[in-house]
Amino acid sequence: MHLKYSLYTLSLFAFFPQIWSQDTSAEPKDVYVALGSSVELPCVDGRNAELPEWRINGSFLVSSPALRLHNTSLDDQGVYTCHDANGEIVEIVRLQLGHPPSLPDVHCWSPSYPIRALCSWSLPQDPILPTHYISTYRLRDDVYSCQRQSEQDRQCVLEELDLFSNVPYLVNITAVNALGSTSRVLPVIFEDIVKPDPPVNVKVTALPGKKLHVQWAPPPTWPDLVNFPLKYKVQFRWGNANADSIMGPIESESMVRSAVMPGRTYHIRVSVMDHLGHGQSSEWSDTVNITLPRS
Ligand SMILES: *[C@@H]1O[C@H](CO)[C@@H](O)[C@H](O)[C@H]1NC(C)=O
Ligand SMILES: *[C@@H]1O[C@H](CO)[C@@H](O)[C@H](O)[C@H]1NC(C)=O
Ligand SMILES: *[C@@H]1O[C@H](CO)[C@@H](O)[C@H](O)[C@H]1NC(C)=O
Ligand SMILES: *[C@@H]1O[C@H](CO)[C@@H](O)[C@H](O)[C@H]1NC(C)=O
Repeated sequence: MHLKYSLYTLSLFAFFPQIWSQDTSAEPKDVYVALGSSVELPCVDGRNAELPEWRINGSFLVSSPALRLHNTSLDDQGVYTCHDANGEIVEIVRLQLGHPPSLPDVHCWSPSYPIRALCSWSLPQDPILPTHYISTYRLRDDVYSCQRQSEQDRQCVLEELDLFSNVPYLVNITAVNALGSTSRVLPVIFEDIVKPDPPVNVKVTALPGKKLHVQWAPPPTWPDLVNFPLKYKVQFRWGNANADSIMGPIESESMVRSAVMPGRTYHIRVSVMDHLGHGQSSEWSDTVNITLPRS
């Protein structure tokens, strides 16, 4: 806290050199206020001053022992200073406006079953103020930290989860700022949130005899194809992409479609799902287009 104030004092002096020139022992105070609410800033250390004077960003505002602001907006942010009759600073307040955190929207999925799952979140409303997050998950009485790569990350990793647990993990994402905190607790069964990443490297070639050969590679994030195989669906669209047909599920990483029409353009993409049908299909892969010769 003290370090923050000291750094802040330095930046304050950099921006308002007129403060620098005055001998003051006043410590800057951070005051956080919810947008639209009212706030009263008392000139505490100026109680004994005859008629304290408030300035905003160095400009005269009002002469009053306490400064009142109503229906605050972002325009009210700034550095407020209270001065005694000699013009000496007796109070420094940095006013910051924003919102308490709204309830986070949390989404969990596992592109890497059975090794790990991910949860990501966002706040429906921008709190404006600096906000940090606490991410945990618990099974019965055991609480684990849901690891993030950096403090600012809004995504965390769940590891070493029990498979086929008959009680859900409780993922707890808590958002905290100077005006409050909120927690979203989401029950999660590992198998229910399986969602592989899309297949990659889709390639399509025309074969003689009105056939198309489609091949692809499994998502690189899927860790164990031997014990946890995948099944694929291949979508063919043509015309104005209104007509389509889906082939699969198949377990191989290539297929041949026969009876394709000469002269037609096909848009082809592939999705993948856990072999046992846990959770959801992946998003579609990139689309590959092929136009067949008219001959
Ligand atoms: C508060 O200010 C906002 C704009 O900043 C205005 O739309 C609103 O009507 C004001 N409310 C009151 C109660 O004055
Ligand atoms: C005070 O200065 C800050 C930083 O330059 C600015 O964002 C803010 O709008 C100013 N406030 C007022 C009330 O002039
Ligand atoms: C969620 O996490 C926060 C922060 O660690 C904690 O205060 C809160 O009690 C937790 N809520 C539940 C329901 O576990
Ligand atoms: C394939 O066709 C679709 C629909 O016409 C188009 O949006 C997409 O950009 C094409 N993709 C490539 C790789 O050309």
